[in-house]
Amino acid sequence: MKTAITELFGIQHPIVQGGMHYVGFAELASAVSNAGGLGIITGLTQKTPDLLAKEIARCRGMTDKPFGVNLTFLPAFTTPPYPEYIQAIVEGGIGIVETAGRNPEQYMPALKAAGITVIHKCTSVRHALKAEQIGCDAVSVDGFECGGHPGEDDIPNMILLPRAADELKIPFVASGGMADARSLVAALALGASGMNMGTRFIATKEAPVHDNVKEALVGASERDTRLIMRALRNTERVLNNRKVERLMEIEREKGESLKIGDIIEEVAGVYPKVMIDGDMDAGAWSCGMTVGLIHDVPSCKELIDRIMVDAERIIRRRLTGLLDGKAA
Ligand SMILES: Cc1cc2nc3c(=O)[nH]c(=O)nc-3n(C[C@H](O)[C@H](O)[C@H](O)COP(=O)(O)O)c2cc1C
Repeated sequence: MKTAITELFGIQHPIVQGGMHYVGFAELASAVSNAGGLGIITGLTQKTPDLLAKEIARCRGMTDKPFGVNLTFLPAFTTPPYPEYIQAIVEGGIGIVETAGRNPEQYMPALKAAGITVIHKCTSVRHALKAEQIGCDAVSVDGFECGGHPGEDDIPNMILLPRAADELKIPFVASGGMADARSLVAALALGASGMNMGTRFIATKEAPVHDNVKEALVGASERDTRLIMRALRNTERVLNNRKVERLMEIEREKGESLKIGDIIEEVAGVYPKVMIDGDMDAGAWSCGMTVGLIHDVPSCKELIDRIMVDAERIIRRRLTGLLDGKAA
């Protein structure tokens, strides 16, 4: 299957693995790229630019296919040294960067001067248009269903994707709620040129996270995510657990006066405890509603091959069949 995204990134299948804190290490990124998708290393999980340079080199040793690096611009207790991270990316010979969070405008000259293809992940049409205007090559349109930060507009992909298709000139991938061939075909029908998956890729053999995390994803349903930090205008979709319930109790008590300090215990330093130690009640961690569609832990190649085979069947048999008078 050829789309504007397979051509832009030089990949076989129109499937991207979004950057994920403490998940997007070289093991996962290389496995996705080796399977014909686009794997992405999460830049800021590497605590220093030097460590990112080492992670890029490690990934390069595991695949000769293109892979990217995610750079996330979100409110943080201390601002990371972004120019140095970009230097590590450029010197590491990376050709694709996924930016996310705040507008990456100030970093675009450095990225573009190095010939890097930039895909910006955003949650609204106006932010996607801004990304197009500042020179991004593509966008990842992240609907309300997504794991992580869905923004504050609450527009699901059934509306957001055709809206993006109406407005954008650059290609885009559908992100949020994507898990299988049905998601891919639907995304293509709505105007996207591929799909970005986060949560689904955590439940794969190569994702270097504790088995408890994969078991929790297989065991959870589409009703098990919660939205937190709305009062801080930093809404995050997370998997429910005891700490999340406690956090939501605090949010109810504090209402609009909520400060990050009130919930710090539930949100700070959680990722290594969950992803490495497998402590599933350590605090709040991002997870999408697609968790209801995850029933197994395949390898990245098994997952991507299955998606592409099933997508062809849906398009050739089910959809074409409808036109040929075969009711389904
Ligand atoms: C555990 C986890 C961590 C994430 N961390 C990041 C991150 O650090 N930066 C980022 O841009 N997106 C992050 N995301 C968002 C994903 O890249 C992707 O946009 C999102 O998961 C898509 O929605 P889905 O989970 O429904 O597939 C994270 C998602 C998850 C599930």
